[in-house]
Amino acid sequence: MLPFLLLLLPAGMMADLTSDRAALLSLRSAVGGRTLFWPTAQQNPCNWSGVQCDTTLNRVTALHLPGVSLSGQLPLGIFGNLTRLRTISLRFNSLSGPLPSDLSSCIGLRNLYLQGNRFSGALPEILFTSLRDLVRLDLAANNFSGEISNGFNNFTRLRTLYLENNKFSGSLPELEIPKLEQFNVSFNNLNGSVPKSLRSKPKESFAGNSLCGSPLDRLCPSKEDVPPAISVDLRRNRKKKNGLSGGAIAGIVIGSVLGLVVLLALLFFLCRKRRSSLKNGATKLTDAEFLGEMQLTGSNGFSLDAPATSSMMGGGNKKLVFLRNSSAIFDLEDLLRASAEVLGKGTFGTAYKAVLEGGMMMLAVKRLKDVTDSEAEFREKIEFVGAMDHQNLVPLKAYYYNKDEKLLVYDYMPMGSLSALLHGSIPSPSLISNNVV
Ligand SMILES: *[C@@H]1O[C@H](CO)[C@@H](O)[C@H](O)[C@H]1NC(C)=O
Ligand SMILES: *[C@@H]1O[C@H](CO)[C@@H](O)[C@H](O)[C@H]1NC(C)=O
Ligand SMILES: *[C@@H]1O[C@H](CO)[C@@H](O)[C@H](O)[C@H]1NC(C)=O
Ligand SMILES: *[C@@H]1O[C@H](CO)[C@@H](O)[C@H](O)[C@H]1NC(C)=O
Ligand SMILES: *[C@@H]1O[C@H](CO)[C@@H](O)[C@H](O)[C@H]1NC(C)=O
Ligand SMILES: *[C@@H]1O[C@H](CO)[C@@H](O)[C@H](O)[C@H]1NC(C)=O
Repeated sequence: MLPFLLLLLPAGMMADLTSDRAALLSLRSAVGGRTLFWPTAQQNPCNWSGVQCDTTLNRVTALHLPGVSLSGQLPLGIFGNLTRLRTISLRFNSLSGPLPSDLSSCIGLRNLYLQGNRFSGALPEILFTSLRDLVRLDLAANNFSGEISNGFNNFTRLRTLYLENNKFSGSLPELEIPKLEQFNVSFNNLNGSVPKSLRSKPKESFAGNSLCGSPLDRLCPSKEDVPPAISVDLRRNRKKKNGLSGGAIAGIVIGSVLGLVVLLALLFFLCRKRRSSLKNGATKLTDAEFLGEMQLTGSNGFSLDAPATSSMMGGGNKKLVFLRNSSAIFDLEDLLRASAEVLGKGTFGTAYKAVLEGGMMMLAVKRLKDVTDSEAEFREKIEFVGAMDHQNLVPLKAYYYNKDEKLLVYDYMPMGSLSALLHGSIPSPSLISNNVV
């Protein structure tokens, strides 16, 4: 009960135009500048330049002192008196030191413009519990430091949050502020990834930090990235092999020979079967070539030591992502095991026809090259393509993304038009956003 009363006292009983006037005089003696011209002989401060009052409240409600050569620190106490302020504009002065924590007394504050000063230190945490009505907050071009608090989420009416050109550090918190329109944290010392809630902001809002991820071009380092993991695995395997027992080596040799025999038999069989269905112009790939093509580490094609399947499917790798109403009736391994033939080479990569094991399904697989998009961007564009439903468009079924390999999986349309489409007239994801249908 007691703290509640104490909170009410300054605002309700003690504060009036007299205490506003006293506070303005304290401000004047602390920061000088143009306030030195205030006609202090007048008892009513509402006529002083930059001071606005509400006549029914009979209180000071706005302080507009932009670019009037104020300097020094804002002393504690003045905002504890100016409790009805709705707007404070002290922008483009030379004010320094920390923000006074009693700004929290201005609980009806809507607009706080402090950009272009030399304020420093962290923002007082108490502001996040008290200034619930803030709409515009501009602290840009100061010397503020500390982390960007997730307390900004408490400003549910906020439309402007300008924090650029300061020394804020740490990572950006998720900011789920529904009305936030203007947002800038450029040129601070922020690191980590741009949180999901802010990825729709332009990348100019984040420049000059060590941030990563969409919308920035800098990819976030990801533990899920496949190639380093594979190469480490391979190296480890090789090292291990040195210390293998004779029995184990014999087992491996026998296994490999058997595997090779089975594989050769399979290839022979498949080659024979396919020779009969050779079409004009279409080059054919054997399973092994296809696997080699698809291999991630892929410098020396298919090999028994590091079959493509195991590199792609090994520990914790990403899977095929199916779009919309396509259900996951096959997986990456099925795709890699499928017999394949090259349909054509286009500007954006090579297209294959893949027949899944048992001939249960025919797919067209487009292997994109030179895609530099981050996974999030790639996914967004792909999902956009996947969502497009047009009778002349081959529906996109699924995609596969990892750092070195991007695959698009379509239904195979045997009319022959698909080949033409895949030869380059299906735009690559990086182009789709520019020439939307
Ligand atoms: C706040 O108002 C009271 C009452 O008028 C006054 O005594 C006090 O000096 C004011 N505080 C400041 C910092 O001016
Ligand atoms: C306000 O200031 C003007 C001159 O700047 C003066 O004429 C007027 O009387 C003042 N009003 C009050 C209420 O002090
Ligand atoms: C900002 O603060 C640092 C100390 O944190 C200080 O060295 C520097 O001079 C300040 N810069 C300005 C422009 O006030
Ligand atoms: C946000 O407001 C709530 C409720 O007043 C408060 O408990 C919380 O501490 C505030 N968040 C921060 C970071 O100040
Ligand atoms: C961000 O920088 C701080 C030091 O300023 C460091 O402690 C922290 O680990 C960094 N975080 C990331 C995600 O790089
Ligand atoms: C953010 O501030 C920086 C530095 O002042 C500026 O270059 C950039 O254009 C601003 N971004 C936006 C989206 O306004």
